[in-house]
Amino acid sequence: MLWCIKVWCILVLSFLLPHSYAHMDFFTSIGHMTDLINTEKDLVTSLKDYIKAEENKLEQIKKWAEKLDQLTDTATKDPEGFLGHPVNAFKLMKRLNTEWGELENLVLKDMSDGFISNMTIQRQYFPNDEDQTGAAKALLRLQDTYNLDTDTLSRGNLPGVKHKSFLTAEDCFELGKIAYTEADYYHTELWMEQALKQLDDGEVSTADKVSILDYLSYAVYQQGDLDKAMMLTKRLLELDPEHQRANGNLKYFEYIMSKEKEANKSTTETDSQTDKETKAKKKEPNKDYLPERQKYEMLCRGEGLKMTPRRQKKLFCRYYDGNQNPKYILAPVKQEDEWDKPRIVRFLEIISDEEIETVKELAKPRLSRATVHDPETGKLTTAHYRVSKSAWLSGYESPVVSRINRRIQDLTGLDVSTAEELQVANYGVGGQYEPHFDFARKDEPDAFKELGTGNRIATWLFYMSDVSAGGATVFPEVGASVWPKKGTAVFWYNLFPSGEGDYSTRHAACPVLVGNKWVSNKWIHERGQEFRRPCTLSELE
Ligand code: OGA
Ligand code: FE2
Repeated sequence: MLWCIKVWCILVLSFLLPHSYAHMDFFTSIGHMTDLINTEKDLVTSLKDYIKAEENKLEQIKKWAEKLDQLTDTATKDPEGFLGHPVNAFKLMKRLNTEWGELENLVLKDMSDGFISNMTIQRQYFPNDEDQTGAAKALLRLQDTYNLDTDTLSRGNLPGVKHKSFLTAEDCFELGKIAYTEADYYHTELWMEQALKQLDDGEVSTADKVSILDYLSYAVYQQGDLDKAMMLTKRLLELDPEHQRANGNLKYFEYIMSKEKEANKSTTETDSQTDKETKAKKKEPNKDYLPERQKYEMLCRGEGLKMTPRRQKKLFCRYYDGNQNPKYILAPVKQEDEWDKPRIVRFLEIISDEEIETVKELAKPRLSRATVHDPETGKLTTAHYRVSKSAWLSGYESPVVSRINRRIQDLTGLDVSTAEELQVANYGVGGQYEPHFDFARKDEPDAFKELGTGNRIATWLFYMSDVSAGGATVFPEVGASVWPKKGTAVFWYNLFPSGEGDYSTRHAACPVLVGNKWVSNKWIHERGQEFRRPCTLSELE
C-alpha cells in the first residue's frame, strides 16, 4: 500500500514443549534447517582433518618405500659386497626385525576414528526420508503455485535468489520418483522428462536413461497419452532390447491401440475429437481439492487483485493514536488501509528489529510443527495444508512479549487478557497455510470451548521478516494480497459486531518461494470486549 509523503515529520515519537530433536520435520522451517548447515560445516571440517591425516600417513609410507627402493636396488646389485659392510648387516637385521613391523602398523592404522565418531554423533540430528520427501513435495507445490517451468526450476532461475543452485539429472530423477510414489503422474512426467533432457544435453550422471524412460512411459500412459507412451517404450527398447517390462508394455499398448481403433471406426468424427480433448485435459496436477485453489494461487502470484480505482481512492494512510490513547497521542503510529471490505489495516514500524530478534530467539528452541483442529475428532493434528513451525510465547516469560501484547491492546482498543498467547510461526521454503478462517464456525462450536473466552474476534499479525519471493497473506474471497514487510503488522476483525463470523476474512499464507518467513500473531477473543466493541443486533454488521 502507499504511504503518504505529507506526514513525514516525525512526531515525538504455552505450551512449553521439551527441546527435542526426536522428530523435527526439518523441511517445515528454515529456523531449524540453519542448525543443519552448521552440522554440515562441522562435518566438513572433520572430514578435512581425516583427509590430512590420511595424506600424512601416505606421505610417510611413500618416503619409506622410496628409501627402501633405493636401498634394495643397490643391495641386489652386489649383495655380498653390500653386506660386507657391518653397518649394512646390522641395519638389515634392524629393518626386518623392527622397522617393517612398524610400517605394517602404520599401514593398518585407522585414521578415520575422529570423523566416524563425529558422524555417529551428528547422524542422530539428520533429516530422515520423511523430511526428504517433504522437501521434494514442497518443490512440486511451488512449481504449481508459481507456474514455474520445470527447466527454470531445475536451472534455479528464481526471482530474488541470492545463492543460485541447480538440479542435476539425478536430482530431477529423484523428484520424479517421489511424485511417482505419490501416484502424481503429472509431476512424474515433468521431472522424468527434465532428467532425460539434461542427460540428452550431455550431462554426466549416474541416473540412467533406461530407468528414466521406464518411469516416464508409465506416467504418460497413466495420463492417457498412449501414443507418447508407446514412443517412449520404443526408445527404451532401443537402449535395452531385452527389457522385460518394456517388451510386455509395448505388446499391451499395441493391443489397446488396435482395440481403440476398432471402437473409433464405429463412432463419429466429433466424438473422437472430444475424446482427444478430454485426454489432453487430464494432464493437470492432481492437487488436493480446494474450491478456491485457482483464485488462491493467482493471488499468491500477485495476479487477480480485485480492487477498483474508485475503491482504491478511499484507502488512506494516517498517524494513528489508538483512539486517543495517552501513550500514542504524542507519538502516534503510521497506519495504512490495506483493504476496505473486510477492513484490513497495516501498522508500520510497529515492532523493532531488536524485539523481533528477541521473539525469534525465545521461539526457536520450541518451534514444532503447527497443528490444526481435526473437525472429525476435534483433536489437534498436523496437515499438509498447514506447513510451518510454531511456538507460543507467554507475556509472563519476557518483558518484550508482554510489551508487545500491551501494544496490541493499546492500538486495537481490545482487551488482550482473554487473547491466546503470542504465536510465533516460521515458514520454510514451500511453507504455507491454505485458505482458512481464524474463527470457529457454527458447525464447530467446541473449537475454543475449553478456553472459555468465546470466539476469535480479531487477528493481529506481525511480519517479522521480509520474504524474497512468495509468502503473501491472501484473502481469496475478496481478492486481496498482503505482502510481508518486516516490522509491520496487519489487523482485521474476524467477527461482525453481532458476533457472526465474517466469511470474507477467509485467508491463507502462500507458500514461500525464496527466503524465510517469520510471523507472529495474536488472536483476540470475544470476552472482555463487551464494552470495547459493543455488539449490534444486525447479523452482518
Ligand atoms: C494464521 C495465518 C497468515 C500468514 O497463522 O492463521 O493465517 O501470512 N497466517 O502467516
Ligand atoms: Fe489465519
